[in-house]
Amino acid sequence: MSFKTLITLATLALAVVAVPTKRATCSNGRTTAHASCCVWFDVLDDIQENLFDGGECGEEVHESLRLTFHDAIPFSPKLFLQGKFGGLGADGSIMAHSEIETAFHANAGVDEIIEAQRPFAIKHKVSFGDFIQFAGAVGVTNCAGGPRLEFLAGRLNVSLPAPDLLVPEPR
Ligand code: HEM
Repeated sequence: MSFKTLITLATLALAVVAVPTKRATCSNGRTTAHASCCVWFDVLDDIQENLFDGGECGEEVHESLRLTFHDAIPFSPKLFLQGKFGGLGADGSIMAHSEIETAFHANAGVDEIIEAQRPFAIKHKVSFGDFIQFAGAVGVTNCAGGPRLEFLAGRLNVSLPAPDLLVPEPR
């Protein structure tokens, strides 16, 4: 190995070592990319224990996964083009305005999981929209062969009720 190559390798090694780590250490000792994400470790522990019965792949997990879809799918560019409100997708509106959205025919049965989830979101002060997607992503990891879904936080906790007829029916 030439001296020049050695110097280049040493410089690279130093550069790697010198890269500043932005990771934050949370109160429970776990680390994450940013301190604002620490709350999700608390939510994780709480829902695995108290919503998903100790990390099971039970009915709360199935219902939570379904809820991610029923909150997110009402988003209609067509309605917007007509000058009407077309929903804002995964915005937590199904929980914030559950009295309206659970009355939609296609949402039959989602009321139970909404009521089960809501206190966790309120307790941890995270938005309904974030909570619904997080619970779905965590839940499927409890199921054998389930995927590890990416979760992105940051949804506002402000929403309008989605319009009816945007959640597809089986037919
Ligand atoms: C056009 C799309 C879809 C239609 C028409 C549809 C329809 C349905 C229907 C009719 C049920 C049975 C509900 C009942 O218990 O009466 C159901 C359950 C379910 N759906 Fe969908 N679905 C769709 C898309 C999705 C997607 C994208 C997901 C996942 C993100 C999903 C996850 C689930 C789960 C997990 C259940 C079982 C819930 C439980 O066991 O409580 N569905 N779906």
